[in-house]
Amino acid sequence: MRCGLDLDDSTTLWAAPGTESTERWLRATLGAALGLPLRPGAPDVPGGVRLVLDDTLGAEAYRLDVVATRGVEIRGGDPAGVFWGAQTLRQLLGPDAFRRAPVRPGTRQGLPHLRVEDAPRFPWRGVLLDVARHFLPKDGVLRQLDLMAAHKLNVLHLHLTDDQGWRVEIRRHPRLTEVGSWRARTKLGHRASPLWDERPHGGFYTQDDLREIVAYAAERHITVVPEIDVPGHSQAAIAAYPELGNTDIVDTTALSVWDTWGVNPNVLAPTDTTLRFFEGVFEEILELFPADAARFSAFVHIGGDECPKDQWRASPAAQARIAELGLADEDALQSWFVRHFDSWLAARGRRLIGWDEILEGGLAPGAAVSSWRGYAGGIAAARAGHDVVMCPEQQVYLDHRQAPGEDEPVPIGYVRTLEDVYRFEPVPPDLTGDQARHVLGAQANVWTEVMEDQARVDYQQFPRLAAFAEVAWSDLPAPAERDVADFERRMTAHYARLDALGVAYRPPAGPRPWQRRPGILGRPLDGPPPHR
Ligand code: ACM
Repeated sequence: MRCGLDLDDSTTLWAAPGTESTERWLRATLGAALGLPLRPGAPDVPGGVRLVLDDTLGAEAYRLDVVATRGVEIRGGDPAGVFWGAQTLRQLLGPDAFRRAPVRPGTRQGLPHLRVEDAPRFPWRGVLLDVARHFLPKDGVLRQLDLMAAHKLNVLHLHLTDDQGWRVEIRRHPRLTEVGSWRARTKLGHRASPLWDERPHGGFYTQDDLREIVAYAAERHITVVPEIDVPGHSQAAIAAYPELGNTDIVDTTALSVWDTWGVNPNVLAPTDTTLRFFEGVFEEILELFPADAARFSAFVHIGGDECPKDQWRASPAAQARIAELGLADEDALQSWFVRHFDSWLAARGRRLIGWDEILEGGLAPGAAVSSWRGYAGGIAAARAGHDVVMCPEQQVYLDHRQAPGEDEPVPIGYVRTLEDVYRFEPVPPDLTGDQARHVLGAQANVWTEVMEDQARVDYQQFPRLAAFAEVAWSDLPAPAERDVADFERRMTAHYARLDALGVAYRPPAGPRPWQRRPGILGRPLDGPPPHR
């Protein structure tokens, strides 16, 4: 005798008040995949699906029960918990549940009897997507949100601006997208490569596109954290509005959107004009990314990374600014710039988050740090009482090659295999318990210099993002004790789900022929420092 529960045409769905987002998702996604109407029912229909809030469970926690006589019950500590429970229900139903339409209509959708009690280790389980270096059209971002939801990841850090492109419509500064959203050509491969893609590259999200993205994410209990990267990584903005640059030493009218990679010397000028300009940008950003959209929506990322100080050292105007403000040096000038936006955001009920360089020169109390240059910035920030997101490049930069072989497409950075990512530990052992509580969570960063389209992004993200998701969600043992064999066994089932989702992951045996990029230079493994 088989022991379990079948879902079929007669299965009803009942959702308690507060669980409607999961009700909608179950009908639209699971229902569509399996051809199940999931008609509205009542709480006591035998064999039905029930969604319930239960305040004895914690934030994002859920309990999933499958009982033959009663049906499926998902209890969540909050609406997000119910949603994550529904993701687990989909996993239990097999790979066809990850398609968009039924391929085997009428097939029995069997579930085993079970109880799953589950809760996340970290509240911030993030992915950074760099849509500046290579633009990902809106559909791709919505698909990314679906892939994140399937992996119980809940923060999409959207890197919207950089030297190579400005991707968000700002109504009061239209040239940011008219000029800044496209470049004439693109370096193909690592910056040392001699090759160019001579096709213009560009694109941007309209304000309504971003409202749609934020709403689509919120419906999936995902926060979209926008990043406007200042005062470095700003050549696209300066190309659009030359007055933003250090005009006393550079002819900024001659700058165009950057077509190659690396750290760019053209940074914002520390003037009142620049401050007012970016306050205007952030005013529109705050409208597009409202603080109450999802759990971490108060945060606005202001970048702050890799801002070379050469132009400020050379610029009489910047030096006069340093003197006028009574600052010690150019590092203090950057700190002043960051603090300006920290107070500006705080006055509007928002929280600043930035790359760990923002710690240099002292950081305002409410600000949080994305620790990317290893753990050190995160440790220093947590010790100083700041919240931290751990995303060290040595561990979770998914642009880095995932195997040492020559076949990897445009390989850059460290070799970081699926196993390496599975052994990533977000909380460094040097933190005390109180300090460790400042680690909001972890984030995998997907920089796209060498990822020209969605298939390349898929390849770099998967399967490693599945390992990352487990690290961010589960209470795993210390890295050396993690059961990699068990993870890989479970990955076998997961590859079938990724196939059903249409994800162009890296197969365990290496890239498929069309996933290679022969002849396009990456960065040799034995070359100078491993940075991109
Ligand atoms: C970074 O990778 N520059 C944050």
